[in-house]
Formats: sequence, C-alpha cells, structure tokens
Amino acid sequence: MADRAAAHRIIGQPVDRVDGRLKVTGRATYAYEQEPPSPPAFGFFAEATIAKGRIASIDTTEAEAAPGVLHVITHRNAPDQKPFGEPEDAGRFSQSKAVLSSDRIRFHGDPVALVLAETFEAARAAAGLVAVEYVPEEATVTLEGHLDDAIKCDCLDGGEAPDSAHGDFEEAYRQAPVTIDATYGTPNQHHNAMEPHAAVAVWQDGRLTLYMSIQIVSSAREAIATTLQIPENHVRIVSPFIGGGFGSKLGTQAEAVMAALGARAVDRPVKLAQSRRQMFANAPHRGATVQRLRLGAEQDGRLTAIAHETWQAMAQHYPFAEPTASPTRASYAAANRLTRHRVLPLTIPATDSMRAPGEAIGSLALESAMDELAVALDLDPIELRLRNEPEIDPEKQKPFASRRLVPCLRQGADRFGWDARARRPGGRREGGWLIGTGVAATIRPNFLQAADAKIRLGANGHAVAQLDMTDIGTGSYTVLTQIAAETLGLPVEQVTIELGDSDFPQTPGSGGSFGAASAGSALYEACRALKQKVIEAACADPGSPLHGADADAVEWDGAKLSSGDRSEEATRLLARAFPEGIEAEGSIEPGEDHDDYAQYSYGAQFAEVAVRADSGEIRLRRMLGVFSAGRILNPKTARSQLMGGMIFGIGAALTEETMLDPRYGAFVNRDLAEYHLPVNADVPAIEVAMMDEPDEKSNPLGSKGLGELGVCGAGAAIANAVFNATGARVRDFPITLDKLLPHLPDL
Ligand code: MOS
Repeated sequence: MADRAAAHRIIGQPVDRVDGRLKVTGRATYAYEQEPPSPPAFGFFAEATIAKGRIASIDTTEAEAAPGVLHVITHRNAPDQKPFGEPEDAGRFSQSKAVLSSDRIRFHGDPVALVLAETFEAARAAAGLVAVEYVPEEATVTLEGHLDDAIKCDCLDGGEAPDSAHGDFEEAYRQAPVTIDATYGTPNQHHNAMEPHAAVAVWQDGRLTLYMSIQIVSSAREAIATTLQIPENHVRIVSPFIGGGFGSKLGTQAEAVMAALGARAVDRPVKLAQSRRQMFANAPHRGATVQRLRLGAEQDGRLTAIAHETWQAMAQHYPFAEPTASPTRASYAAANRLTRHRVLPLTIPATDSMRAPGEAIGSLALESAMDELAVALDLDPIELRLRNEPEIDPEKQKPFASRRLVPCLRQGADRFGWDARARRPGGRREGGWLIGTGVAATIRPNFLQAADAKIRLGANGHAVAQLDMTDIGTGSYTVLTQIAAETLGLPVEQVTIELGDSDFPQTPGSGGSFGAASAGSALYEACRALKQKVIEAACADPGSPLHGADADAVEWDGAKLSSGDRSEEATRLLARAFPEGIEAEGSIEPGEDHDDYAQYSYGAQFAEVAVRADSGEIRLRRMLGVFSAGRILNPKTARSQLMGGMIFGIGAALTEETMLDPRYGAFVNRDLAEYHLPVNADVPAIEVAMMDEPDEKSNPLGSKGLGELGVCGAGAAIANAVFNATGARVRDFPITLDKLLPHLPDL
C-alpha cells in the first residue's frame, strides 16, 4: 500500500478506456470475427420442437443434398463425448457440455442436428430441412401449481447453504405486534448480451484453438477438454473481447462444443454463432421465483423475526439455484431468522447465474417487504432501515469488514431530496399523473478469488502484462493498465495488458464482481515483484551507481531508481542488466480477512416515478444510487457499471419477462422486440454517487466488487415508488400496467 502514497496516482483516476478506440473503430476482434488460418466452414444447428422425450427418427438426406452443405452431425454420427454434466464434482462450468450425444430431448430447443456448409446462409437453410420425429413425454415447464413438488438442492450459486435458522422464528413471528406476510413473484429473464454466443474452432495437429465469447477462460478450457476427452493442454481458448456476458457466458454453451465437433468432422475451421432466437434456449436464463417474506416487528420498527422462503424454477438436467435469500441473511438485525431455498426441476432450458444471482431478485422481495412494513408501522422507510442496522453479520456472526449502508442511505436522502416525498400514497398529483418516490437498500457479497498474473518490462521501458482475465465490457483492460502503470511508476501509454488467452496465467475471469479485485491484486503483486527484482539487480550490479545500496532504501519512480543522492535511469539499468527484458509473476488468494470478516458492498437506491392514473403507464423520472464499494479504481468505468446495473433493475421492475408456452415448453417472446429491455426512452436521468473509501480487508488494492451492485435494490426502489405514487402494491414482477390498472384510484 505504501507505494500508492507516491505522487504517481493513476488508480482512482477516470482514465478513458484503453480499448475504446479499438472498439469504436471496429478493430476489437470479437469471437465470430476471428479469421482462421484457412477458409472456415459455417455451422447452424437445428433445435428440438418438444420439451421432453426422444428422437424417434431423424432424416438428414435433404439437408445433406442442399447446396453448399458439407456435412450434417446428429446423435447418430456424433463422436463419443463425456456424458453431459460429468464429472459431477468438477463444478458446473468445468463439466462436460456434451451435445448431440443421445436421442434424449431435455428441453425445447435442445440441439438435434448440426449442419456444416460453405456459407452461413447455406447452413441455416439446410438446418431447416432436417426432418425429426419425436416420441414426446409429459413435461412440466412452469412453477405454477407445482410448488409442492419443489426439492431442496445443494446447488446454490457460490456454495451457499440452502437453509439457515437462528433463534425461533415461528414463535417470535407469532408474538410480534406488527407483521407482514407477503408473497412475491419474479419471472423468467434472459441476459441478452449484445454480442450473441459465438465460437470459431481451429484444429491443428490434434490441438484445438477455440475462439469464444466467454467470461472464464480456464473453466471453458477444462469443459471443452473434458467434453471431447482430450488433454487440457491440447485446448487453447482465446477470448480477447466480449460484448457483454452478465453470467450467460460464465460457462461453455453448446455452440462452442459444436464448433469443435464440426471443425474436426469437416477438417476445416468452423464458425458458429447462435442466433438471438436460439440464445433463448441455448444460452442460460434466470429461472422464475416465488418468494415469501414474513417480517415481525415491535411497534418502534425493530425487527424481531425475519423469514425469506424461496422457490425457483430449475432445469432438470442442470442443477442450479440462486441464493435468493442472500440479502435477507445479512441486511437487517433480528434475533429470530429463517431462510429456505427450494427448486423445482422442470423440463426447461438451463437456468444459471444472471447479474447479481440471488441479490438481484431477492432484493426485489426483501426491500419491497421492508417498504410494506414501513407502511404498516407508519414509519419512514429509511428510518425503519436505520433502526434495524446490525452490529455484526446477523447470520455469520462475524464482524463486517466495513459496512456503510447507513451513510449511503443518509447521503442518498440528502441528494435525492427525500424530505419532499408525500408521506401518504397518492398524495402527489400533477394533472393525470400520480407521482411517487421509493427507496431500497443495496447489499452484495464482496469476493476475492485466487489469481495469477505475469508482467514483463522491456529494456525500452514498456511493460506488457498477461493474464487469462477477460473484459466483458466492464473495463478490465483499463483498470489493469492503471494498476500496472501506477505500481511500476509508468505512464499508462507504456503499459499493455493482454487478456483472454488460456496460455496466460490463470485468473477467475469475469464473474461474481470479483474480477477487478482478483486479477487486479495478482497484477499488483506481479508489478511489486518485478520492481523488487529490478532494485535488487541495481544494488548487486557493480556497473550501477546504486551498487551496494540497501535494496529496501531504493526508491523507484518508474523512470529512475534512487537511494539518497545516488540514482540511475531505469532504462539504462534495464538495457545493461536485462537487455532481453525482465519478467515477474504475482498471485493472490483470499486470506484470513475473508474468513474472519463478513464482506459486502453496499448502496442505497432512490427512484421517482409518475404513473398515469387512467392507464397505469409508469414513467421513471429519475434514479439515484449511492454506493460504497471500497476504493474506486476508475470512477468512469465504475459509474458505467453501477449505472448499467441500475438499468438492469429497471428491466426487472417494469419490463423484462420471458413467457413459456406451457404446452411445448418454448419461450415465445424470444427476440428483442418482444423481450422488453429498457431502452433510452425508458431510462431517466440516473445519478450515481460513490463513496471512495478503501477497505483494507478486501484485497491489497482496497477495492470491492461493484459490477453487480447497481442492480441490487434498484428494482425495489422503483416498485416502492410505484406504491408511493398509487397506493397499489404489485407483488408479481414485472409491474406492467395491466397488473397496476385495476388498483388505481379514480381521480
Ligand atoms: Mo456474473 S452473474 O457472476 O457474470
């Protein structure tokens, strides 16, 4: 940390994206744009049209005879692969992702044939000619009416326990003078990264290079090697630029495996992209939930009992559940507590992590319920939260590394002008519009994962770092450049960061908001190690003016090494001592501070809405988020992350929902016309404020995760604003006008 006291401050500056120019000039090469060494073939896959059953017969004759077609792969001729999901203990991103490997249909959209052709158009046309007959089986595709069949599954994201219990919830709830018992619903959602899932596969001498759009390079390599049953060191994953992930690209999807299978079959490189419509089944989604919140409080608002029970849709073939009650486990003090996660295995496409898995949807329910309690108590919702601030983590029973929820709420109330709010719902009107404001608290666990990094300093004074970290649009290239530049005392122009290649040192990639902290800390340590090597070389070099100096007393400002009145230009020393350049490695892993302390990032979200009294139309007027996420590495990229998260929250509250056809198990609104992401006209003025305070227990940089923080609580603040405007509480998200309309007052 002492190094950062130096005048050379780059971390924390709003440095422009170092890859910005490449992106706006179209020179950032995304997966599908990678040009293989020889002309590629193109793949397109045909999808099952039933939810469950098996293939009775499949006829590829017509497809094979179609113009430009090179080959068609089905389960009948696909090479042997490790069965899907094996080995069970490998973790869901590293297991086999076998595809076209049996006649079983697991979900509507399951690939049944891969067509390889000279052009994309030829492959797509021929895929439509594959004729399949099925033996359908009975399928269950929605939660509704089946909650009693839900099971306990030890498959929560992050390895969290499905259940927790402290004190005696039932008794405390029975005795509480004020109670809330409310059940909320959140829908199926799809991530819809701007760049569709795509892969380019190139085989050379039995080795596979796979260009992918993937958040975690190392587990993709493991998954591909496992699936194809080849040694891991025969697989190289390259993923330098990624057009969004949000969790849908944490794991390897079918297109990557099919590209590899196809390229081997036709002995040519293969390009394969999923269409937007295919992604609704062959990229994962967020499963619908039902969430029951029960709160018991004293008349003064202090919680005595808090319970959060959740039920979530899950794919039968892919165990996964969100830790939906996670925010309830750590937000508020209450002696008696209960959380419970159940999943319902359905014949649906895989569900998986979606931005802030757990907190994003859990906070919709918890923070709505807190608002309902505030109404029942006739207490200001901010005051209610202040009165329930815990001293230690109420479930882990550990001290918080740092906790700044209260300052976020207070600062937010000031900035937002919370005082001006109408205390009673429906109390503020402008013509035909009802105006309301809402607040919600934000919490999200802060993680650190093991990571390695390598940095090389050339004799010309230019540093190049390599790590298999990815940049999914978040700004990894930029913050890593800042970390290396500041630590080595170099201008940012003299640092190059190379990412997204499995040949580079391993990191956890982009996920869980741990990317910047983990990869950044490893790089920071590598830079410090490199500096130390250079200083020691100077002290040991008879040709250096620093010869014989105490290494601990040598200062390095990037351009110059000095000790007392002795100094030497770094480039001179490097040219003499390391004409080939010098390299160092660094690594990080979570230490005691991640065992001994409960670590979270925090925030407070505010929203103002206008609701048309006659139509139920909801217009967001403004949003404010105040966030505490440790040291802010780059306020420009951080602001974009937080703002993007808040916009995710708008979608969750008001627009996003994928509908399943109960007869066929197909998502029906599977494009961006029918799946309603918030667009510019839906997004109001958004203000993002950040408390910039290092958390020394988080990692050597003092930063905390924020990529998923902005979504947490954002939707609830909007829902609470809708209630404040109208007096109508819609508990079934998204709050569309059809749900609101019957409850609106007559004006
Ligand atoms: Mo995140 S849902 O771990 O990409």
